[in-house]
Amino acid sequence: MLRALRSLLGSRWPILGMLGALVAVAVAVGALIDGSVVEAAISALLGLALVGLVIVGASAREAEQRARKLDAQLKHLASATDAISTTLKAIESKQDDPGGGALAAAIGAQRLDAAVRHDELLARHDQLRGEVVTALTEDQLSELSALTNLYAMLGPDDEVPVFGGYAARPTTVLRLASLVRRLPGDALVVECGSGSSTVWLALACRRAGRGRVIALEHHERYAELTRTALARQGLESVAQVRVAPLEPVTVGDQTQDWYEGKNWADLGGIDLLFVDGPPRSTGPRSRYPAFPLLARALNDGAVVALDDVNREDEADIAGDWLAEPADGVTLRDAGTIGRTRFFTASRGQDN
Ligand SMILES: C[S@@+](CC[C@H](N)C(=O)[O-])C[C@H]1O[C@@H](n2cnc3c(N)ncnc32)[C@H](O)[C@@H]1O
Repeated sequence: MLRALRSLLGSRWPILGMLGALVAVAVAVGALIDGSVVEAAISALLGLALVGLVIVGASAREAEQRARKLDAQLKHLASATDAISTTLKAIESKQDDPGGGALAAAIGAQRLDAAVRHDELLARHDQLRGEVVTALTEDQLSELSALTNLYAMLGPDDEVPVFGGYAARPTTVLRLASLVRRLPGDALVVECGSGSSTVWLALACRRAGRGRVIALEHHERYAELTRTALARQGLESVAQVRVAPLEPVTVGDQTQDWYEGKNWADLGGIDLLFVDGPPRSTGPRSRYPAFPLLARALNDGAVVALDDVNREDEADIAGDWLAEPADGVTLRDAGTIGRTRFFTASRGQDN
């Protein structure tokens, strides 16, 4: 009804409404002066109704204007969204088209670059994996298989002597243990530098039922540790650790520290000599004197093993031993296992 009235009066309806209200008030005042109370009240009510209609109509108009404005804004937003989506579609279609302009060319080049880099990285990854796995696998596998063989040698009550750090490797110990099996019953095994290998050698002797071990050790504390390990396994009668402090010895024109003479002077009839000490920390070429000084105590056909020939000093020592017979004993190369080089000693006319 309000809308119909508004359209009837056009845009002037608020003014006309207010004028109507004023007229009604004037009529009410006139009626009151004339003493006609009922007429005055009706006119006043009509005036108030006209004022109310003007107020309500004005707020309705304002709300309608706000709705129209909002509608226009929504339409603008919708057309902007359409424009963005059209642009995106255009970019997508250009990406798929190799000849789709500079943008497509740039994106295509980036993709190609990424694909090439990806392939290069994959190839490098495969290569590195191959290198590392191959190197580690070969090394680890031989040590692991040696370890397995050594474990098979142990009885159910035997403690496993530890490997690692200072100790000779499983491949070395396994070869020493298999040499022990071929020794004569009363064979003598001498070791320079005691530790786990002393216990392994003693275990191998006990299992083979042949041989005994004498280890020279310059360090009181390590001698005691090795003795304790031997005792735990009841091997005291098979292996002896001699504390032999280092003292200067002269071989040829070289003087250097080696095990005190009184601790090895009595040795004779050695069938297996394992040289794994004194440690390098005691001086350069610390293991060199072993062969020149103990050669006279080696049996014909004895095996000499020098550990750590992967180091320059020990590699030089091995070369010198092969080149320099001592006390009528010559060393011949018997191969290298892991880090340990083996030699066979021979005495005789052909030396
Ligand atoms: C190369 S290690 C010899 C170890 C022994 N031949 C072996 O394979 O178990 C040389 C020297 O290391 C020292 N040593 C022995 N046991 C050790 C240990 N548990 N930790 C550190 N050094 C040790 C001793 O003085 C030994 O003469």
